[in-house]
Amino acid sequence: MVLGIGWTINHIFSLFRRCIYVILSVGPIPNHIAFILDGNRRYAKKHKLREGAGHNIGFLSLTSMLQCCYELGVKHVTIYAFSIDNFKRRPEEIRYLMDLMQEKIEFLPKEENLVNRLGIRVQFFGNLKLLSEGARDSAQSAMSATATNSKAFLSICVAYTSTHEIVHAVEQVCKEKKQRKAWNEHVNLDDVERQMYLANIPEPDILVRTSGANRLSNFLLWQSAYAHLYSPSALWPEISFWHLIWMVLNYQRNYGYLEKQQQNMDHVNVFGRSNP
Ligand code: FPP
Ligand code: MG
Repeated sequence: MVLGIGWTINHIFSLFRRCIYVILSVGPIPNHIAFILDGNRRYAKKHKLREGAGHNIGFLSLTSMLQCCYELGVKHVTIYAFSIDNFKRRPEEIRYLMDLMQEKIEFLPKEENLVNRLGIRVQFFGNLKLLSEGARDSAQSAMSATATNSKAFLSICVAYTSTHEIVHAVEQVCKEKKQRKAWNEHVNLDDVERQMYLANIPEPDILVRTSGANRLSNFLLWQSAYAHLYSPSALWPEISFWHLIWMVLNYQRNYGYLEKQQQNMDHVNVFGRSNP
């Protein structure tokens, strides 16, 4: 009986979501949304839960948000799951978060999971050597298990900071030029972009940071030049379908302006980037 009511409510809500998607699809749908999942510990504190529970609930919010984004037609979602700076936290907290990540990542490629149902390719970006062995192995397995999926993409930035990504890319460019003995060649924008971790992922259209902070905290600095920024006051575990609707409506309202900025920049092209 209770199960029956639960199923009916779920079914009605799913129909309702689909109606909203049809309405939103009258305007441009973002191709890529990036999320900074901030406010998990504060959520646990606010609800007097044990430490770590906020991150656990945060993972559930992530799953529902991913489902809504992909249902809406967003092709790429990128999340900031763990920054290099997060390694400065207390050892117990780091251990807990690594174990949690390992558990959640292992679950990603399971048959009944969203990733498989929707044909999502999962990729991890960052200095994966810094992860615990278990988390790193589960990340590698999830990447291999989903390598042939291509309906949508989930990029998980772990042990990541944007400045590390840029330095790593420049190092790779220098290595490559050294190998070719191209000593006199200048380093240009295309060279660096080709070596970025997220080289094959389009730039984000919307960048979301929960918990009301207006900082990028070293996330996608290179890629977010024209992204529409959205920072709801909700803590990450509180993020919901309604936030998604609101951010997409705002993105659509600013779409003309963002497009124009992008075109102007492609036109000016002072750094030697080759225009498509
Ligand atoms: C920041 O909140 C968030 C994190 C350090 C990790 C968030 C990760 C998840 C919710 C799950 C990731 C899942 C996968 C599959 C990789 P915070 O700890 O800074 O919270 P605070 O701002 O309240 O202190
Ligand atoms: Mg935080």
